[in-house]
Amino acid sequence: MTDRTITKTEILNKVYTADDHEKLMDAYKDWAADYDSDLEELGYVAHITSARALDQALGGNHDAVILDAGSGTGLVGEELARLGYRTMDALDYSQDMLDQAETKNVYRKLIQADMKERLPLDDNAYDAVVCTGTFTYGHISAEGFDELIRVTRPGGTIVFTVREGAYEEYGYRKKMLDLEVKGEWELVSFYDTPYQIEEGNTCKMCTYRVR
Ligand SMILES: C[S@@+](CC[C@H](N)C(=O)[O-])C[C@H]1O[C@@H](n2cnc3c(N)ncnc32)[C@H](O)[C@@H]1O
Repeated sequence: MTDRTITKTEILNKVYTADDHEKLMDAYKDWAADYDSDLEELGYVAHITSARALDQALGGNHDAVILDAGSGTGLVGEELARLGYRTMDALDYSQDMLDQAETKNVYRKLIQADMKERLPLDDNAYDAVVCTGTFTYGHISAEGFDELIRVTRPGGTIVFTVREGAYEEYGYRKKMLDLEVKGEWELVSFYDTPYQIEEGNTCKMCTYRVR
């Protein structure tokens, strides 16, 4: 916990009402130092569930090269490291969040990039991508799936969460089904799971294999 100037309620409000990219990044700048402790108080568990879902899909192959897209402060990377994964890159637009992620000492590289644009990454660069808490209100639209598929090798795995409510309302469901119909990816598993236990909210935990 830091000597904060903005309360947890105020920052959550700022994050979820940000109606443009600059306001969202400004909110994460304010939040970066207190993000982990605030999420712990909210009973955030999606980082743990995502890491387990990826571990299951990878069959415990600890040699996998993994991109943590929308890594934030690195909570997912930390969980993956606990499970034995060694080669992970963190990607986020917020340099303040990446600076926190760096302190976790679990990432090979930190990449500052915008997931709404073409990513500065080669085609098929990763065995797996994990993206937790980032397909949600005011963050990355469903169009972001295209780049995650491009940077994942054929046969590779993509695990992501979509916040309940945003799933239908923001077009994620439609885009996910369109990509299946187009043969871009195939569904491995899909289920509802708690997101922040204290808040009583849930997310969809989605695992796809890239074709
Ligand atoms: C709710 S946090 C999730 C962080 C982490 N994955 C976790 O589970 O704690 C969402 C993250 O998405 C990042 N983000 C939002 N818009 C982005 C964009 N256009 N490009 C890259 N990252 C973005 C934010 O900076 C923030 O770190």
